[in-house]
Amino acid sequence: MREIRSLAGMQRQARGWQRAGTRVALVPTMGYLHEGHLSLVCRARQVVGPAGVVVLSVYVNPTQFGPREDLARYPRDLQRDRRLCREAGVDVMFVPDDAAMYVREPGREHSTFVGEQVLSAGMEGASRPTHFRGVTTVVAKLFNLVLPEVAVFGAKDFQQAAVVRRMTRDLNFPVRIVVAPTVREEDGLARSSRNVRLSSEERAQAVALREVLLALRRAVQTAGGAGRTAGALGRLATQCLERFPLVRLDYVAFFDPETLVPCRRVTPGCQAALAVCLGQTRLIDNERL
Ligand code: PAJ
Repeated sequence: MREIRSLAGMQRQARGWQRAGTRVALVPTMGYLHEGHLSLVCRARQVVGPAGVVVLSVYVNPTQFGPREDLARYPRDLQRDRRLCREAGVDVMFVPDDAAMYVREPGREHSTFVGEQVLSAGMEGASRPTHFRGVTTVVAKLFNLVLPEVAVFGAKDFQQAAVVRRMTRDLNFPVRIVVAPTVREEDGLARSSRNVRLSSEERAQAVALREVLLALRRAVQTAGGAGRTAGALGRLATQCLERFPLVRLDYVAFFDPETLVPCRRVTPGCQAALAVCLGQTRLIDNERL
């Protein structure tokens, strides 16, 4: 496995692959890798085959964190990430240099951002106003640096995948977006780099996200074609959370999985997403109902 840090070096390599007709898949991450990330590497390998290259980027992107968010406390362990990447068969780990990604020199600082305006507005975008602008900006930069044919994202961040797909189409990036299923812990908690920050009490109650989503799915499946109102399901979610006093609900949303337009009448096939806080840690999850 090779590790590339320089942006010019990455782009030179990407051009070389392009000239040679080598297929390239990109898995963008912020590191502190877990089984969820590694499942994306597997998916990437399936797409490009043994002769193709899988690039995994590790970059804790500052522009997607709000001023009061956990950028400084975001977990990092590059040594471990290296080992996991090697074991997973990653060909190139791209660890871009932060000062080069966002030039900060006074007078010539980075000043161009990519913003998706519609799918980014609700849910995560409403709770974290500059988050998706940071995500689309860094993903656009990574596409230009790695020149992948395909990029793999996880369904755990459902809205992010939708926003990235829309940006890719709108800006004509020649990149296919593949979305891979959410990988979970044994009790159903979605794997996340942030899970390590939960205390043991918080970790025990984190199963609440899954329990709420499964209760919502049962309610919608039972109602069948007539569905349930979003209001009634919202109340059901709140009621479910009463058993988990450490969990504070940020939002629960019901929407069309393609357009992300909110559903008033929630029927089987609608998507549900929720965000909660457990102490200092914010967790999200989603499920097809
Ligand atoms: P990060 O949270 O590190 O996640 C990187 C990728 O892994 C994302 O596509 C995410 O959806 C996926 N992922 C995370 N947990 C997963 C799980 N349990 N199962 C399946 N996939 C999972 O998302 C980001 O980083 C950043 O916003 C990024 C896209 C890299 C831009 O900075």
